[in-house]
Amino acid sequence: MFRTAFFLVSICCCNFYWCHGCLEEERILLLQIKDSINYPGGSSLDKDWVGKNCCQWHGVECKPSSSRVISINLNLTRDERLELWYPNTSLFAAFKELEKLDLARNQIGGWVMPQGLCELKNLRYLRLAFNDLDGRELPPCSTNLTLLEELSLSGNDLGSYSSALTGLCGLRNIRNLNLCSTNLDERAFPLLCLSNLSKLETLSLQDNDLGSYSSALTGICELTALRVLDLSLNKINDHSIPKCWGNLSSLEKLDLSDNKLKSPFNSLTGFCELRHLHHLDVRRNSYVGSIPQCFGNMNYLRILFLSGNQFTGTIPSSIFKNMTNLMIISASHNQFNDSISFSTFANLSELAHIDLSDNVRLEVQTEHPHWVPTFQLESLLLSNCTLNKRGGNGIPTFISTQRSLKTLDLSHSFLKGTIPSWLLDNLTVGSLILRGNLLKGPFPQSTRRNNSMLNELDVSDNKIFGELPSNMDTLFPNLIVFNMSKNELQGTIPVSISKLQTLQMLDLSQNNLSGEMPHGLISRNNTSLEYLRLSNNKLHGNILSKFSNMTELVVLLLDNNGFTGTIASNMLSSPSLKILDLSKNNLSGFIPSWLSFLMNLAILHLDGNFFNGPIPSEVCQMQNLHILDLSNNKISGSIPSCLPNISSWMKEISIDVDISVEILYFRMLYSLDGTNYARSINTRVTTILTTKGMILTYEGLPLSLMTIIDLSLNQLTGNIPSQMGHLKTLHSLNLSDNFLSGPIPESFQNLESIESLDLSHNKIVGTIPPQMVQLYKLSAFNVSSNNLSGAIPNEKQFLTFNESSYTANPHLCGPPLQRSCSCNNSSQPRDNKEEKKKKKTTLQSLTVLFFSTCGWLLHIFWDFGVSLPFLPTRTGDGSSLVQWTGALIAAI
Ligand SMILES: *[C@@H]1O[C@H](CO)[C@@H](O)[C@H](O)[C@H]1NC(C)=O
Ligand SMILES: *[C@@H]1O[C@H](CO)[C@@H](O)[C@H](O)[C@H]1NC(C)=O
Ligand SMILES: *[C@@H]1O[C@H](CO)[C@@H](O)[C@H](O)[C@H]1NC(C)=O
Ligand SMILES: *[C@@H]1O[C@H](CO)[C@@H](O)[C@H](O)[C@H]1NC(C)=O
Ligand SMILES: *[C@@H]1O[C@H](CO)[C@@H](O)[C@H](O)[C@H]1NC(C)=O
Ligand SMILES: *[C@@H]1O[C@H](CO)[C@@H](O)[C@H](O)[C@H]1NC(C)=O
Ligand SMILES: *[C@@H]1O[C@H](CO)[C@@H](O)[C@H](O)[C@H]1NC(C)=O
Ligand SMILES: *[C@@H]1O[C@H](CO)[C@@H](O)[C@H](O)[C@H]1NC(C)=O
Ligand SMILES: *[C@@H]1O[C@H](CO)[C@@H](O)[C@H](O)[C@H]1NC(C)=O
Repeated sequence: MFRTAFFLVSICCCNFYWCHGCLEEERILLLQIKDSINYPGGSSLDKDWVGKNCCQWHGVECKPSSSRVISINLNLTRDERLELWYPNTSLFAAFKELEKLDLARNQIGGWVMPQGLCELKNLRYLRLAFNDLDGRELPPCSTNLTLLEELSLSGNDLGSYSSALTGLCGLRNIRNLNLCSTNLDERAFPLLCLSNLSKLETLSLQDNDLGSYSSALTGICELTALRVLDLSLNKINDHSIPKCWGNLSSLEKLDLSDNKLKSPFNSLTGFCELRHLHHLDVRRNSYVGSIPQCFGNMNYLRILFLSGNQFTGTIPSSIFKNMTNLMIISASHNQFNDSISFSTFANLSELAHIDLSDNVRLEVQTEHPHWVPTFQLESLLLSNCTLNKRGGNGIPTFISTQRSLKTLDLSHSFLKGTIPSWLLDNLTVGSLILRGNLLKGPFPQSTRRNNSMLNELDVSDNKIFGELPSNMDTLFPNLIVFNMSKNELQGTIPVSISKLQTLQMLDLSQNNLSGEMPHGLISRNNTSLEYLRLSNNKLHGNILSKFSNMTELVVLLLDNNGFTGTIASNMLSSPSLKILDLSKNNLSGFIPSWLSFLMNLAILHLDGNFFNGPIPSEVCQMQNLHILDLSNNKISGSIPSCLPNISSWMKEISIDVDISVEILYFRMLYSLDGTNYARSINTRVTTILTTKGMILTYEGLPLSLMTIIDLSLNQLTGNIPSQMGHLKTLHSLNLSDNFLSGPIPESFQNLESIESLDLSHNKIVGTIPPQMVQLYKLSAFNVSSNNLSGAIPNEKQFLTFNESSYTANPHLCGPPLQRSCSCNNSSQPRDNKEEKKKKKTTLQSLTVLFFSTCGWLLHIFWDFGVSLPFLPTRTGDGSSLVQWTGALIAAI
């Protein structure tokens, strides 16, 4: 019975023409396409194009009534390793009812039988994005594609052949045209025929070269049906911007971001008539002046992006009166300098994102006049504004009414007073940033059991005192980032911090924390921690021996504490570790040879401890080492000659500090305008170098390329290995204050990147190799207090060094020293007097050098702090650098 029914069904559905759900002739065509797509040499389509019913194949769609193929999607199908593909268009033309064809990302370089494209009479949608078409391959038969509504050619290089795109002029029914990133300028763009594209609604021209030729873009004025116009990332300026906005009155979305526009909108004819705009983006232009009042006409506006310009004045409250749909306002990174009251926004019930950050002179008033918000924000970014100047600089109270808030950034906004406990108790905030204010009082005691939403809590650089809560794990079980650095915290680090299972970044540096490090923090089962900074506290104890399994750890900074003991063997199993700073503690014993197991280590600071014994030759196995600082210890023995095995000192290799990128990414997830964070990725290192006794600031390399060896202030003996001359990418070498003997290796002439070289206070003999004048980057050089002799090289870079570079070498002669090379002995009495004077200058020069070296290192960390946002900010440490300098100068 069952069997009969099945038999009947198969009989009635399987006529010769429509047997398996798709037409046999079209199935064969698809198989031909499959054969061609990875031809020659590639494997055929790895997608599931097997079986009889081709309508069920991946990327294929048929019309149920006719079983004919109506859509073929081959987006990203050709093997990327193959050369260009030249598809035979007849294969596609043979599909009589094809409406949709997507051939994006297939390395198409042109067509076999291009006229085949003209036969696709039913085509409505054609996507050829990200291929290697140059415009000439577009068929000259666009008039035949009468039904085509949507065409994407983005990511092809169409700009090379002028007017190659005139073929597009026949697309009378085109509604959506995407020409992003196609290298177009006005000469290639078919501006003259735009009036033929009268149905065009969406025109995307992002990332081209448009705008260099004044008024060439006026063709856009003909597109009266246009609803979406994207001209972002071009070269449009006040002269080349179209001046006919009145014609485009249907426009709903206008993106002019990343251009060169300058004068305020009122000078743009008709701009104020764009009454139907929903979305206006003018970010990152050069707009000056004030926000035009006529924005108030744009009653439908939902998204308003004004950030990254030079707007001044205020954001006029009148424009928001009728903007009842407004969801996003971003006005960050401008120069607004008046005041704005949040009562302005009170009735904008749709508002979800407000970003006014980085308008340092903008006074933001949230308390007066009294108002009640009708909105529920998701993000509020007021960093670098002046907040509530006339209301005691308090944290805005309306925030307590916000039940959807995810990101709250009030950093650097001159806040005073205490942190109200509702801020931690009542909010759903994921990211709470209060960095760089004057908040004081104890860490807020939470009344609620937990604030399970909080992922990022940054209260660094304030005046919070007292102890951290002992129940951190129950209060903030989902913390990923916790930054309390630069406060006045006391007591011990609560054990509960080590129970935070998701914690990735912990920064408690620059406080008055004491006691030992909680065991669980460093030897725990959960190893999510990637960044741990406890620098500049009063921590003590023998913590290092208790280290264990921190597989994710990338940065460990424990410097400037009172840690004691030796570094036990294999204490640190952290294969990802890139930066390790244990400097300025009371550690002793040998430099452990197992450090070489830390294959990714790029920056190693062990300076300012009591390490003794030799430098283990295993150090040379750390192929990624960029900065090695062992200075100011009791290290003896000779300098290992294998140092040139370290590749990052031989050729330029960048440290990939991906941790910062992760943090940045994390922040961008929540913030509207990632630019201010993204900007810091490529922060350049500021180094301080001494030239002619003056301290110069030099904006140079990104930290990721900085390379330094500092072995100064130790008890090293023996010769300087001549192999060190092979360190071609080394920027700074400091071997001063040791007992090194022998000559300056001639090979030093090859240190082509060297900027600072200090060999002072050793027992070095011989002459200064004259070939060293080739080191054209050398700007700080000191060989004072050695036994050098002979003439000082007197050309090129060496003309910039003064006497203090050479003093206290009894047999050196020639300028800049007073001692002339020819008559060394005749001026004996004067020399004595001079010697005294020189002693004084030596002390001075040493001071300057000491300052410069330390200042330099400090600076590197300071700047590194900028690229890792959880280290203190540039301003913060900049001022402490100044204080530090003051203290140093006072001590002298
Ligand atoms: C193209 O393929 C990529 C990767 O498979 C996919 O992410 C994208 O959404 C596809 N685009 C279209 C328009 O199908
Ligand atoms: C293109 O395909 C058609 C149809 O299959 C075929 O007749 C023609 O010979 C092909 N042309 C080339 C150059 O391969
Ligand atoms: C384009 O359309 C015209 C008129 O309908 C027709 O004569 C011509 O053959 C078509 N061209 C192609 C290549 O199909
Ligand atoms: C514009 O359309 C008209 C009429 O349809 C046509 O004659 C003309 O050739 C088109 N212009 C271009 C540049 O294709
Ligand atoms: C605001 O809307 C009201 C009523 O729709 C209208 O009368 C008024 O002119 C509008 N104001 C502005 C500035 O557009
Ligand atoms: C805030 O201002 C400081 C100092 O002017 C600056 O260094 C920092 O980058 C600014 N932050 C933001 C988010 O704009
Ligand atoms: C915070 O929440 C608690 C309990 O949910 C409530 O009693 C209190 O009024 C809230 N405080 C504020 C300022 O909203
Ligand atoms: C690690 O896990 C073991 C067993 O699950 C447990 O006994 C130990 O206390 C844990 N250690 C830490 C530091 O949590
Ligand atoms: C470290 O942790 C990893 C993963 O959690 C584990 O596979 C490994 O055995 C642990 N190593 C030690 C030395 O505990």
